[in-house]
Amino acid sequence: MSMKDRFNGKDYLTLMDWKPEEIQYILDVSIDFKRQRLMKQPHENLRGRTMAMVFEKASTRTRFSFQAAIAHLGMQSFYSTPSTMQLSRGEPIKDTARILDRYCDGLVLRTFGQDIAEEYAAYMDSPVINALTDMTHPCQGLADMMTMIEHKGKLKGLKLAYSGDPWNVCQSLMVSSSLMEMDMYVALPKGWMPHKKIMKFATENAEDRGTQIVVTDDIEEAFSGADVIYANTFHSMGHKDIEERKKKFAAYQVNDETMAYADKHAIFMHCLPGYRGEEMTDSVIEGPQSAVFDQGENRMHTEKAVLALFVQ
Ligand code: CP
Ligand code: NVA
Repeated sequence: MSMKDRFNGKDYLTLMDWKPEEIQYILDVSIDFKRQRLMKQPHENLRGRTMAMVFEKASTRTRFSFQAAIAHLGMQSFYSTPSTMQLSRGEPIKDTARILDRYCDGLVLRTFGQDIAEEYAAYMDSPVINALTDMTHPCQGLADMMTMIEHKGKLKGLKLAYSGDPWNVCQSLMVSSSLMEMDMYVALPKGWMPHKKIMKFATENAEDRGTQIVVTDDIEEAFSGADVIYANTFHSMGHKDIEERKKKFAAYQVNDETMAYADKHAIFMHCLPGYRGEEMTDSVIEGPQSAVFDQGENRMHTEKAVLALFVQ
């Protein structure tokens, strides 16, 4: 099967569905789209196609990067939120999904449970693209890998250290690391763990490839010699125990002192939105090691690749 046929018309719900060479292919296409934009080459590969965008949680980057990518590709997007749709009055997802499928060439969906994304996918022939669920953030995962390639020249052999909520972003990084031969250390206070299903997938895949996925409450162990330090909020969208989390996670802040555990050429990454004074300091995000705005930009290039490969 050609690479194009592997993606065409499929859903993009989690990185767990893809092989390392397929992920690498999406990244190569993303890098090509970035070059095309830099060279001001038109790339309206999908002129006339339409995408529905249904977002049940707040978004700045994902919403605007998809809308920009969709416009550059010559497509149109229709953005809505469930509170203004008949979903809010009890219309089932299975009816909503089949109707959107008749109008549009795919759906970009931000929601809570992974099962909700899977339900849309079950009722749509056209691709459903996961724009963040509680469990995974596979579009962020692609932009993160692209940024590491740009800044570190490779993925294989990198040590990635993560501090923050062990949710969607962390879990997509764990999957990426285990498939792309990186070591990943997750620094967490005792009592918090990533989802069991992701732990199992990532540790098994890492073991097969001779790499490691380590969860530790020792930030020095996690950050020591790391090539990439990745911070994320301590309180993801949907959590209610915000104050408790701020207290329990406080010792895991990325600041000048903890950043110094890493390799001196390490980069700092963050999916954003970031909270200065909580998971990181202003000095780190604004400092010379910060790659966060390249990372944010790469959301758009990687999403273009997903649209170009998955939409029929
Ligand atoms: N990183 C990310 O997904 O940002 P938004 O929540 O602003 O879309
Ligand atoms: N973990 C964060 C990521 C936001 C992009 C959240 O779910 O709120």
